Amino acid sequence: MTELDLDVHHSESDITEQLRADVRAGLEADQKWLSPKWFYDARGSELFEKITALPEYYPTRSEREVLAARGGEIAESSGAHTLVELGSGSSEKTRLLLDALTSHGTLKEFVPLDVSETALAEAAEAITADYPSLEVRGVVGDFTQHLDLLPGDRPRMVVFLGGTIGNFLPADRATFLRSVREVLDEGEWFLLGTDLVKDRETLERAYDDAAGVTAEFNRNMLHVINNGLGANFDPAAFDHVSYWDEENEWIEMRLRAREPLAVDIPGADMHVKFDEGEYVRTEISAKFRREGIAAELAEAGFSVEKWWTDSESRFGVSLARSVRG
Ligand code: AVJ
Repeated sequence: MTELDLDVHHSESDITEQLRADVRAGLEADQKWLSPKWFYDARGSELFEKITALPEYYPTRSEREVLAARGGEIAESSGAHTLVELGSGSSEKTRLLLDALTSHGTLKEFVPLDVSETALAEAAEAITADYPSLEVRGVVGDFTQHLDLLPGDRPRMVVFLGGTIGNFLPADRATFLRSVREVLDEGEWFLLGTDLVKDRETLERAYDDAAGVTAEFNRNMLHVINNGLGANFDPAAFDHVSYWDEENEWIEMRLRAREPLAVDIPGADMHVKFDEGEYVRTEISAKFRREGIAAELAEAGFSVEKWWTDSESRFGVSLARSVRG
């Protein structure tokens, strides 16, 4: 019998309130946008799991290759007693780190943090079962808001995998990196996964697969708004677009209205019109270069101690140490 230790930092009503605020801000703007956090209801999380296995979507495989090859070095360098995973989701790649850190003998605690209480509870339970010597303390929360009180024996290593840092706009990314630095003591660790800049075709295909799973994932956000705010979006009336913005070095996912549309969103007290061809930006996924991410980490108060890529140089992993407040 295992006892699940979960700290909950938000409630359902917070979530609907946030969705309402985000939908208002994003759909009233001249250039309509919605936050990628709204992809991930139960169906969206399932679709994302499918994406990670698609032939076109290389980041998961590339990052896994790095973690599998470098787990021992990560454990050796950090000697972490606590592993804190931000946006842990299913924690599948985390097991590679847990394996390495438990074999190294220093790890005592695992602290997964995720917005989804169900995903977190499932992951925490599975990890508890498979790593009986580990103390697992789940934190339900948003890594942009609830980073202030991370538990755990020092030194801790915060890990943020999958390239999810690419979802932030540059200014928000700087704020986020600062907030990670601020919860850590000097000498503690941050392991960061970043997808790397590469050719347009590879990038655009990674976000527009032949089987159409990413298109469904993108349209799922409209279902989330329909369910959460009683809206009447017809997801089928929107085309999925994957666009590599070379100047900003990010992938943009868009939902583009195929014809002029009017949508009611009673839960946000809105009526929204779309011209033919008008789109909502649903995600940016920034891609990085080694020097660029090292400079951003340095600016936030970290020094990059190790940098690894997969064998095809598609994905980078930085092991950074906090050096100053
Ligand atoms: C989970 C944010 C890392 O940006 O690659 C996958 C999400 N979007 N396909 C990414 C995503 C479309 C993914 N992250």
